[in-house]
Amino acid sequence: MRHARITSGVAAIALTLAAAAARATDIEVLHWWTSGGEARALAELTKKLEASGHRWRDFSVAGGGGDNAMLLLKTRVVSGYPPMAAQIKGPEIREWAEEGLLADIGDVAKAGNWDATLPTVVANAMKYEGRYVAAPVNVHRVNWMWINPEVLKKSGVEPPATWDALISSADSIRKAGFVPIAHGGQPWQDFTLFESVALGVGGADFYRRAFVSLEAATIQSPTMIKALDTFKALRKLIDAGANNREWSAATAMVINGKAAVQFMGDWAKGEFAKAGKQPGRDYLCLPAPGTDKTYTYNIDSFAFFRQRQDDARKAQADLANALMGAEFQENFNLAKGSIPARTNARMDRFDDCAKRSAEDFRATAQSGGLVPSVAHRMAAPEAVQAAMQSAVSSFFNDPGMSSRDAQARLLQAIAQR
Ligand code: GAL
Repeated sequence: MRHARITSGVAAIALTLAAAAARATDIEVLHWWTSGGEARALAELTKKLEASGHRWRDFSVAGGGGDNAMLLLKTRVVSGYPPMAAQIKGPEIREWAEEGLLADIGDVAKAGNWDATLPTVVANAMKYEGRYVAAPVNVHRVNWMWINPEVLKKSGVEPPATWDALISSADSIRKAGFVPIAHGGQPWQDFTLFESVALGVGGADFYRRAFVSLEAATIQSPTMIKALDTFKALRKLIDAGANNREWSAATAMVINGKAAVQFMGDWAKGEFAKAGKQPGRDYLCLPAPGTDKTYTYNIDSFAFFRQRQDDARKAQADLANALMGAEFQENFNLAKGSIPARTNARMDRFDDCAKRSAEDFRATAQSGGLVPSVAHRMAAPEAVQAAMQSAVSSFFNDPGMSSRDAQARLLQAIAQR
């Protein structure tokens, strides 16, 4: 495992130094929430902690999807200064816990009755060997399509129900003067688009076998080739300026009427909200083509690095409690675009996209359509996720790379387990 290789032998040093470095009331938290909407959501957290007497020390690392943040986290841990808490998600929570670096926050969870307050799928993702080591703040849905209805109307195009429909409407959209798909050419954004295509083309069972169970036969199947072919066809629907564009700049293209659609998780809604836009009127949220009975979930959570000093541990407990607060989760998620992680959260202040997300989360959990987002580090071990992302992104951007080549790279990726 990657972390183990990178950080082995430094755990003990890290813990000693962390104790020395932490000031009792300083809460240093690593995160990658730097866009307009994300910063607005984060302010809810800093406000809450500062009101309870702590000092927020911001450790933000720009770069959507968290690739940069996770690299820097490793550097900090290796050099002996882990932050008090870090935005760590999915199977990586377990990978860090296996190294003995994470604090057990089981007492806080017990006192707060987290087991009864969280959906099972969320609670399980926060635990290592049955004990909580992380606290969740939300559930993001990834398989969304954000639409500018005005742009579609001017292009004489209906919201696409299939990927093929979108591909065939591209000419009309372009002729009307718009970019069909707003996209940022960064590996994680390519992977985000790909997972929605794979889900739409292959369905939940295919997706789960390929990206959660990591089954070779599914990676090698004709369905995977179809997903890859469809994905590659979408490359032509993206403008020349996409290279390295931030996801929020791509969202702005939909907001400002330059592009027809964006495929992105509902943190994009945070940008629409910040711009004062209303769903149903200024923009539409629809599941990506072919994915309306399915749901790719992405849970934002914070894991806690072990501390020696009582004051630091107390500050961590306060942070954990704050993250799980009902009122906090409501305010935070209204700005973030996601829905509260807590079950039975009040949804009356939320918009229709969030209400639909909450409804579909419940329904797909029952139907089997609920799957973890592989692009957002929820489904596979980090080494596999990284290798898959690199395969998918190279394929998308290299005209000479065939679907067969990409399939072979994906097969190599699952061997990283
Ligand atoms: C995701 C994260 C979201 C959002 C997005 C873009 O991985 O879960 O909260 O911030 O990246 O930065």
